[in-house]
Amino acid sequence: MIFTVAVDGPAAAGKGTISRAVATEFGFAHLDTGLLYRAVGVVSELRGVDPVTVARSLSPEDLARDDLRSLAAGDAASRVAVISDVRAALVDFQRSFARRSGGAVLDGRDIGTVICPQAEVKIFVTASAEARAHRRWREVGGDEAQVLAEVRARDDRDMNRAEAPLRPAADAVRLDTTDLSIAEAVARASALIRTCLPR
Ligand code: DC
Repeated sequence: MIFTVAVDGPAAAGKGTISRAVATEFGFAHLDTGLLYRAVGVVSELRGVDPVTVARSLSPEDLARDDLRSLAAGDAASRVAVISDVRAALVDFQRSFARRSGGAVLDGRDIGTVICPQAEVKIFVTASAEARAHRRWREVGGDEAQVLAEVRARDDRDMNRAEAPLRPAADAVRLDTTDLSIAEAVARASALIRTCLPR
């Protein structure tokens, strides 16, 4: 069965948590596409190599680095993600992952709009900037106001870039998690997927 679930939305809205949970529930493969951009950002900064070159030769070791989850890595990712040749270098890998047999869930910013416009299910996960900053702050600590400022700066860069900006696909279902528990958010996504599965 070829079946793609596209999950997009801003940082810390709950995309990753929801995507992992539904992938497990339905037995689909899961790709966190943010990790690709994080690896490109971190590796290119560290080695002082052009991000496009890094994107074209991304290795499994690059993707397995344990410093990809930091705020700094997210920021580096968001900066290289504006480069259209970086995005182009990552398209084929994401598309073939999406169409592998057995079903796939991809989460990112442009899955429903650019990578998989034909996805069987499209979910746009949102939450207020304050709620997202609070969640991030609980994970990373530090100054919550500073985390909120960073979340806003990243939203601004992701939504206003020329290439594949963050926005919901016209046919995406919006899922606002501001006032939902993880269990409630997952249950809604899972109910939606179930209605779209082939019989
Ligand atoms: O989802 P994340 O926070 O790991 O993503 C990090 C950055 O990577 C995000 O700010 C923008 C970029 N990104 C992107 O441009 N397109 C994607 N499909 C996924 C991430």
